[in-house]
Amino acid sequence: MDRKETDVYLRLDSASLPRHIAIIMDGNGRWARRRHMPRVAGHRAGVAAVRSTVETAARVGIPALTLYAFSEENWKKRPKTEVDFLMRLLCHYLKVEIKTLNQNNIRLQYIGRKHELPESVQREMAEASDATSNNNGMLLTLALNYSARSEIVDAFRSLAEAAARNGGLDHIEVNEQAISDHLYTRGLPDPDLVIRTSGEMRLSNFLLWQLAYAEIYVTQTLWPDFRGVQLLEGIEEYQKRERRYGGLGPNGHAPQPKSHRLQVEAKR
Ligand code: FPP
Repeated sequence: MDRKETDVYLRLDSASLPRHIAIIMDGNGRWARRRHMPRVAGHRAGVAAVRSTVETAARVGIPALTLYAFSEENWKKRPKTEVDFLMRLLCHYLKVEIKTLNQNNIRLQYIGRKHELPESVQREMAEASDATSNNNGMLLTLALNYSARSEIVDAFRSLAEAAARNGGLDHIEVNEQAISDHLYTRGLPDPDLVIRTSGEMRLSNFLLWQLAYAEIYVTQTLWPDFRGVQLLEGIEEYQKRERRYGGLGPNGHAPQPKSHRLQVEAKR
């Protein structure tokens, strides 16, 4: 950890780290445009941000990190040259990064409609996740060709198929747990914190079910400039929030945000 990271890390409460952080990596194109470079240069630079974020998350003891690398919409709506570049970049990342993932005891998995990706990419993905399958530290999930609505559609199909195998549709049981158990993220705790880079205030079809109670942290930093220190700053902000899951605060009323309370206290 460098000096800046250590400074923020020392301000964190290690007993209340988020159990699962999800990140919408955004701003690669803008990063490149500001430098008069092609969009793909932003994606290439984004890999260094992935590396730093993953390593820092694992080192500080975050149990699960999910990165939105590639949405179903990206795949369908971007020029083929950009999509092909992203696929090659992903394969390169998977090849090169296995060693570091193993050194940091990180297990890799994927969510999304994997079967729609090119077969060569699927093979690379399987190799990388197999190579890390014995690790028991942080679980790194890459969302690839992912869409939350498709995930929910797939969950309902899977629920119906499971019911058909077990006595027919009359036996279908639909409740929150059953739906969660059929999502791609089954077994993962819901994210406590979702981070979005580049200032956009959208969820962009990412983990819509799982983010129901997540704290949202939006930073202006463009993804290629994001590093471990920005991740720790996001965690610091998360630790200032008061989570109520729809209930009331300890005094029986909705508490004011902590930042506001601090201002009021300072004025007294
Ligand atoms: C969003 O920026 C970013 C993406 C669609 C791709 C994310 C890919 C990486 C960070 C690199 C490869 C990933 C891995 C896991 C190795 P944008 O292009 O939408 O940016 P813009 O909104 O500024 O145009």
